[in-house]
Amino acid sequence: MKNLIATLLCLSIFLSGCQEAIEKEDISTPMDANYYTEPHRPQFHFSPEKMWMNDPNGMVYYDGEYHLFYQYYPESTVWGPMHWGHAVSKDMVHWEHLPIALYPDSLGYIFSGSAVVDWNNTSGLGENGQPPLIAIFTHHDAEAEKAGRNDFQYQSIAFSNDRGRTWTKYAGNPVIPNTEKIRDFRDPKVIWDEGSQQWVMAFAAQNHVKLWGSPDLKNWTHLSDFGREWGSHGGVWECPDLFPITLSNSGETKWVLLLSINPGGPNGGSATQYFVGDFDGNTFTLDPSFASDVSGEKAVWLDWGPDDYAGVTWSDIPKSDGRRLFMGWMSNWDYATVVPTDTWRSAMTLPRQLTLQNTAAGLRLFSEPVKELETLRGESYNLENQSIDGDYDWSGQPGISPSQMEVLLEVELPQGAQTDFGIALSNSKGEEYRIGFDAAKNEFYSDRTKAGESGFSEKFAAKRHTAPRSSDSQTLRLHLFFDVASCELFADGGASVMTEIFFPAEDFSKVKLYSTGGAVKILKMKAYPLKRAVMR
Ligand code: FRU
Repeated sequence: MKNLIATLLCLSIFLSGCQEAIEKEDISTPMDANYYTEPHRPQFHFSPEKMWMNDPNGMVYYDGEYHLFYQYYPESTVWGPMHWGHAVSKDMVHWEHLPIALYPDSLGYIFSGSAVVDWNNTSGLGENGQPPLIAIFTHHDAEAEKAGRNDFQYQSIAFSNDRGRTWTKYAGNPVIPNTEKIRDFRDPKVIWDEGSQQWVMAFAAQNHVKLWGSPDLKNWTHLSDFGREWGSHGGVWECPDLFPITLSNSGETKWVLLLSINPGGPNGGSATQYFVGDFDGNTFTLDPSFASDVSGEKAVWLDWGPDDYAGVTWSDIPKSDGRRLFMGWMSNWDYATVVPTDTWRSAMTLPRQLTLQNTAAGLRLFSEPVKELETLRGESYNLENQSIDGDYDWSGQPGISPSQMEVLLEVELPQGAQTDFGIALSNSKGEEYRIGFDAAKNEFYSDRTKAGESGFSEKFAAKRHTAPRSSDSQTLRLHLFFDVASCELFADGGASVMTEIFFPAEDFSKVKLYSTGGAVKILKMKAYPLKRAVMR
């Protein structure tokens, strides 16, 4: 009898599980045709269902899921008291929205931070022999700030024992109080350092990065500071990320420190610089070959476009995968709060794989879109050995919408070329976005000056944006993603990257290649329509 009841119970649990699975499937085929189709809504980038979003937070991989938390204000499309929004994905492309993970509390708003899997339960916060997820974030006490105090930001933790579905704030918060009274004291990113067998936290303190160490994520000691005298200080330092990475083709381990600054970016406003060096369990030291690249206010930029900010990398990617995976916020504090979207504000960049390579210019990070994005591809339109002199219009290819596609181009530049070559998207309203390469200046450019609405901010369309080319190959390789209101360029295998958003009054429907000042030869072009990645 007992067995029968148990069997029936199991069966009913199993069936209700199926029921849930069926309902979820139903949701995944959009029932409401308007879902995620508002003007300017990206179709394969992550964006919140509604309301305000900024930085990606707590990116961690656990039990088959990529977690993405993000700075979120559920009551307005403008920044306000910060929460952590939450989504999960099996491939970083298709996302499922989950309820808000962290709410503001008596210690303050929940600012940016990270999350880790505490595999050995060093924190003692795990249950039932399972490792807890630990979120490490900044508490921002807005009342204290208003009262004129300087110690209103400090680091705290929260834990989850149900795969990130619910979170409990640690009773001993904050774990790092702001005894130095530094006004900008935020954005903790934590890693487990195999070498020194401790947790290492990097966070930003106005004009430098602080490194702290801990055996258990609860008790922290100051290790060292980095950066007062290195890199660009055109703005406040935010959102660091310190991690080891294997130098491609050498097997050597180097350490990279990503660091966002606002303002002071190479094309204005917010941007992310980085440093390459070593970490000995206590101190981050610049690689001697890298020091001259970041001395005297010089910086090396991860992405030259104006719209990739506060990006960091995923924690706990399995060793068998081995990738260093990155995602940034696809906006800029110069205009983020006023861009013309109605029901929600902003999106994330595409997920990217970072690699470290030895180049003629020195050690450099390369960024490439993750291979999982290939699952969105439809049938490509191809060109081969096509000379371009002037305009080459290829609008109207069956299945291809210029506002939602991926383009791979290999272009042969003539010796000593002075050509201006690129790709232009336009619409029936005469708006046009251009992205290309100016051979005379040896630079890439992204030009949204005529690409649509811009009256919301003087800075938005003031000038075209540029990025120097580092490769000297006669073959130019451009990898481009267009998603309604954005373009991402990965040039020369990811050596030069530009991310830019724009707001055409009507989706771009026409596309052409152009070459002025001489002909270029398209060795190969593949243009893929990309399916939308439905958010659930
Ligand atoms: C970066 C940032 C972080 C901060 C968060 C607040 O964009 O300013 O430094 O934690 O946004 O939302």
